[in-house]
Amino acid sequence: DDTHNISVKLLDWYDVHARELPWRISPQDRARDVLPDPYRVWMSEIMLQQTTVATVKDYFLKFTAKWPNVEALSKASEDDVLRAWAGLGYYSRARNLKKCADMVVAEHGGNFPADVKALKALPGIGDYTAAAIASIAFDIPAPVVDGNVERVFSRLFAIDTPLPAAKPLIKTKVDSVLCPMRAGDFAQATMDLGATICTPKKPACTHCPIRDNCRALADFDPELFPYKLAK
Ligand code: ADE
Repeated sequence: DDTHNISVKLLDWYDVHARELPWRISPQDRARDVLPDPYRVWMSEIMLQQTTVATVKDYFLKFTAKWPNVEALSKASEDDVLRAWAGLGYYSRARNLKKCADMVVAEHGGNFPADVKALKALPGIGDYTAAAIASIAFDIPAPVVDGNVERVFSRLFAIDTPLPAAKPLIKTKVDSVLCPMRAGDFAQATMDLGATICTPKKPACTHCPIRDNCRALADFDPELFPYKLAK
């Protein structure tokens, strides 16, 4: 059916065009269904909450070189973590990073739990981050909805409810399209599509793998979406 069709096209596109980022596994490993280290997925998702991909890259490499696993980070002092975080902003993220590492060691034997609810119980992990870690690190099907994904899906289904009221509907749509066999790749494919093709201004629709499914492109103008509540 149509939703299956959308996820297949997105995943085929991702297999060729996935951005190579320090927290992602190599294309060769991805083809062999190797999953990335949950610690590295968690670290990257916390950093990416309020910081751009370009800025996060160096910090991610610095942090994972200094503290290669959750036990190492747990042994660091909060001051050490805050010093290394300097420049990234939103310092509560750094404090929660350290608290979360301590809790994963103390309560989960040093392994991030493979469960959305258990992930959400950890400091600094909300709806978005729990869904992102569950899908990317464990291939658990969970709707991962960030700003990029909101834009992609608002356009795909020409959703005329304004944000933020449209969020539950968008989640339902993502849930209906996502590929349960490749939940992590699906999540990152939609993020990459939003970041590189389905951009806020002048989207590159001619290069879009799902242009034939896009209601905004067929019937309206993709740039009109997502609708936003007038301020
Ligand atoms: N933004 C948030 N998480 C991301 C990821 N895993 N890949 C690319 N961009 C992201």
